[in-house]
Amino acid sequence: MEQQGKGQWGSSFGFMMAAVGSAVGLGNLWGFPYKMGANGGFAFLLLYLVLVVFVGYVIMLTELALGRKTGKGVVGAYTDLSKKYTFIGWMSAIAPWLILSFYCMLGGYCMKYAVANLGDLFGAGWGIGDAASDAYFFGFAADMGQTVIFSLIFVLLTVFIVRAGVSGGIEKFTSIAMPALFVMLVIVIIRACTLPGASEGIAFMFKPDWSAFEGTGWVKVLSVAGGQMFFSLSLGMSIMVAYGSYLPKTDNLERSALIIPFADTIVALMAGLATMPAVFAAGLEPGAGPGLLFVTLQTVFKGMGGVGPIFGFVFYTLVFIAAITSSISLLEGITAVAVDKMEEKGKSVNRNKLVMILGASIAVTASIISIDGLGQNGFPQFLGQGCWLDAVDLISEGILMPLAACYCAIVVPTTLVEEEVTLNGNQFKTQKFYEFCIKFIAPIMMVIVLLGQLDGFLGLGMFG
Ligand code: PFF
Repeated sequence: MEQQGKGQWGSSFGFMMAAVGSAVGLGNLWGFPYKMGANGGFAFLLLYLVLVVFVGYVIMLTELALGRKTGKGVVGAYTDLSKKYTFIGWMSAIAPWLILSFYCMLGGYCMKYAVANLGDLFGAGWGIGDAASDAYFFGFAADMGQTVIFSLIFVLLTVFIVRAGVSGGIEKFTSIAMPALFVMLVIVIIRACTLPGASEGIAFMFKPDWSAFEGTGWVKVLSVAGGQMFFSLSLGMSIMVAYGSYLPKTDNLERSALIIPFADTIVALMAGLATMPAVFAAGLEPGAGPGLLFVTLQTVFKGMGGVGPIFGFVFYTLVFIAAITSSISLLEGITAVAVDKMEEKGKSVNRNKLVMILGASIAVTASIISIDGLGQNGFPQFLGQGCWLDAVDLISEGILMPLAACYCAIVVPTTLVEEEVTLNGNQFKTQKFYEFCIKFIAPIMMVIVLLGQLDGFLGLGMFG
């Protein structure tokens, strides 16, 4: 077990699984399919792909290069560039800590649903039984005791894996979990796409609807796609900087920065094929937000009869795996910052202890978000949002993430990236493209995303 200081990836495959594991999460399985369907279908997909190539790829490459060059977590990495950039590092370190607070709660929900489907399989009392899916979901979400317990179990599992170190914990776990996730996803896709009426769901996702772009609609679609892309690729956070810092100097950065977004997008599309056909086959609403995952899909599984609980169990286990490979990356991102701080102070680094302390702080914040019960338990609400999860999401995903990514595009010198990419005589094949995008396209896009996110969260209706 690596208990002291920094770790390093054991293999290129291991790093790739960890990075793709970070990227593939609730954002892919939950957000992507319905956002795509509700914002122009294939038209949205085209725009999303353009964004991934012109913005996602270049920010990914910049963050990985910054991490590998400095060998530090995000705060130390920006401080190494210049002391005046330390605040960017802190923005990128606070956001994952905030995201973890609700991510762990949602991970806990997935566990509860996997367990409940197992209960149904055995006809046990702890299954969902005959309860209506929405009543069951909102009943569970409002139950402070249960949600806190499931959130805490999820936090504990996250801590357990991260504590075991970069290669001994994260890499080992994701190298098994990601291929398993892929297999489960294929099983669910086959079931979903062979249900009667499934083709309507495929059409919902892929049918081009250019009218979504009319008037100022394109700004909204652009910002939804951009926000989704940042969250889905785990950018503007501490993660890709930390993961880059564990890369050996021999790794081909340019190739990694291409493969991660590619794999993430494939999984997002696969997630759409696993969910939307089933939703339409059951005649249900596709854009139900949080309800989609736990109410709509549970209704679908229930409607499948005897095999429903099996698919329910496989599906929620799959979502749970996707969630935990992302949550471990969030915790690792902030752990890297804490490790640097200890080293800076000349103290000997006990990684175990640091992970436990950070884990304890997340246990507290995840419990707090859980007791709000998605706004059902009568607590005062903030920032004009309906629940604490949304308020925290507004600050982290809505503001800190695009701002940090925007600063990243502006302040990291292109020469640093060039130097890192061309180490070991590698050719920087996309250099011209990279320089153009990072200077002009990425910052402009980030400002649009930021405005669009604020507009969406605060319901200002600026962009239709
Ligand atoms: N990319 C993950 C998802 O799509 O659910 C979530 C996430 C993980 C966001 C790590 C940000 C992050 F730094």
